[in-house]
Amino acid sequence: MSISIALTKGRLEKQAIAMLEACGYGVEQLKDKGRALVFYDTKKDVKYFLAKPNDVITYVEHGIADIGIVGKDTLLEKSGDVYELLDLEVGKCKFILASLKGNNPLEKVGHIKIGTKYPNVASQYFHKKGLEVEIIKIDGSVELGPVLGLSDGIIDIMETGTTLKENGLVVYDTVCDISARAIVNRVSYKLKKDEVLQIINDLKEGKQYVESNQSK
Ligand code: PRP
Repeated sequence: MSISIALTKGRLEKQAIAMLEACGYGVEQLKDKGRALVFYDTKKDVKYFLAKPNDVITYVEHGIADIGIVGKDTLLEKSGDVYELLDLEVGKCKFILASLKGNNPLEKVGHIKIGTKYPNVASQYFHKKGLEVEIIKIDGSVELGPVLGLSDGIIDIMETGTTLKENGLVVYDTVCDISARAIVNRVSYKLKKDEVLQIINDLKEGKQYVESNQSK
């Protein structure tokens, strides 16, 4: 039975393709893609889509893709009705609370204004701490919030820390670690179990190969 895999466009794309290639998948079309969005494996009965992170979860939830590769950040924010079967351990980063030096949002008296692309993650974080928060949803360059005075701090992703540093922001707390995950549609897991598990096992191998190459 043919399998469809939804891949996240952008940062995770290269790493996911490297992993698939390392475990014997024919990803030539994905590597030389132009503006195309759907690709066929040249070695296996697999079709790939490229989509935005939230949409990867949507395609998998609706069974348009049997498998998806997406960041844990998006899974935490959107919480899709899917099985999360494998931590691919690439695309590693952290959710952090950051602000300007000497301006720890956790020490602020009264309600705290937080700019973020992840309103659910941010409100859960402050709720757990029992702190009153006003979430300001931002679509990108969240670091601007404290710099321009829109927010007291940000909940965002930090990978290398360069964006924070170059904008004079420091980390006040780590919310959690993030990495790419393989997710599976619930029905596909039942009806195409052998094919799905084969791909998950292949990805485990690909992951080890990519990891051992990174450490060289
Ligand atoms: C993400 C994130 C930070 C930056 C962190 O943004 O929101 O801004 O990357 O990476 P660093 O720690 O390696 O500097 P992205 O590049 O996805 O762009 P956006 O802010 O426009 O969404």
